[in-house]
Amino acid sequence: MKNQELTVKREGAFSYPICLRENFNDLATKAEETGFLGRKACVVSDSRVFELYGEEICEKLRQVCSKVTSFVFPAGEEHKNLDTIEDLYEHLIQESFDRKDFLVALGGGVTGDMAGYAAATYLRGIDFIQVPTTLLAQVDSSIGGKTGVDFRCYKNMVGAFHQPRLVYMNLSVLRSLPDVEFACGMGEVIKSALICDRKFYDWLSENADSIERKELDILEEMVYRCCDIKRGIVERDPTEKGERALLNLGHTIGHAIEKQMNFQLHHGQCVGLGLLAAAGISRRRGLLTPQEEAEIIRCCQSFHLPVKVKGLQPRDVLAASKKDKKMEHGKIKFILMKGLGHTLIDKTVTDQELLDGIADVLDAEK
Ligand SMILES: NC(=O)c1ccc[n+]([C@@H]2O[C@H](COP(=O)([O-])OP(=O)(O)OC[C@H]3O[C@@H](n4cnc5c(N)ncnc54)[C@H](O)[C@@H]3O)[C@@H](O)[C@H]2O)c1
Ligand SMILES: [Zn+2]
Repeated sequence: MKNQELTVKREGAFSYPICLRENFNDLATKAEETGFLGRKACVVSDSRVFELYGEEICEKLRQVCSKVTSFVFPAGEEHKNLDTIEDLYEHLIQESFDRKDFLVALGGGVTGDMAGYAAATYLRGIDFIQVPTTLLAQVDSSIGGKTGVDFRCYKNMVGAFHQPRLVYMNLSVLRSLPDVEFACGMGEVIKSALICDRKFYDWLSENADSIERKELDILEEMVYRCCDIKRGIVERDPTEKGERALLNLGHTIGHAIEKQMNFQLHHGQCVGLGLLAAAGISRRRGLLTPQEEAEIIRCCQSFHLPVKVKGLQPRDVLAASKKDKKMEHGKIKFILMKGLGHTLIDKTVTDQELLDGIADVLDAEK
């Protein structure tokens, strides 16, 4: 591995590094460079990830921190809510965390979103670092500062923008990730390529076997390219006034399916389905050829993402997608594809077009 690094630059505010590594060896050094020497750290993690990597991380941080505590919650999206956040606040108060202390999000997107939200709000904001351990979190959720929790049945309904001070990813942890979670991350990887990088999209197909074998050099290249795409977009549009909406490719319908399935399908799987629905809509508008649409379906299949979902009604999915946050003056901001590797924001997509796109990914047989 080349141990590559990128920096997310922010106007008038601190910039932060993204470090790609094959172990956790220089985490303490990086934390020290970030200014955390002598501060207290709380490692926030789910039960599964903490068991695998928690002790090692705490040990590393003890080299530079005055105290290291941990807050562990049960794994799963159903725990990404305000109840867990309350327990975390309670822990921080018990441990006398003050404004100078910081949180470490060790885990996937659920952990990152929650630890980030707690950091954004505890004492009106404390620092946090991201140590993403799922592919999805490494290529997407740990960068860009969107934090939050689900509220009742509404996805990410409560949240805040709060940037991490450091993103440190050890790619070798992807080897312990269950296959289905790896596939979910590939949903976001394919999304990144389709947004703006045709060459990267082709590279994914050419390197599918090495990706599948989780060869570290190839994973580093893949994760680096995704991080770089996201870095560019969030630097230009940190609070989603414009271009950042492109990152929602596949998410309007994807989130609706996720919700309608009662979270039985994973986020990344739903994003894959959402990409295919968006591809269908784009093809009907003449923006994508049938061959290009078929190519995207093939790509999702090759990375073990579902391409159909059973047991849903198009109208229910449509209604759910209209409750999504990505609305402006009552119109859905929909992301369409224009060929492979180009996207555009469109506010004219009709209900009928959405229904047809949704129908593309629903298995008629219940
Ligand atoms: N903030 C953002 O910009 C953003 C972007 C995309 C997604 N998200 C959010 O991210 C969440 C999904 O994240 P996720 O897919 O990482 O889910 P997750 O955090 O629940 O992790 C998935 C599962 O993998 C396990 N796991 C994590 N790392 C592991 C490892 N290295 N080895 C073995 N098991 C491991 C976890 O314990 C969990 O059971 C959703 O809530 C979504 O809304 C946020
Ligand atoms: Zn996503």
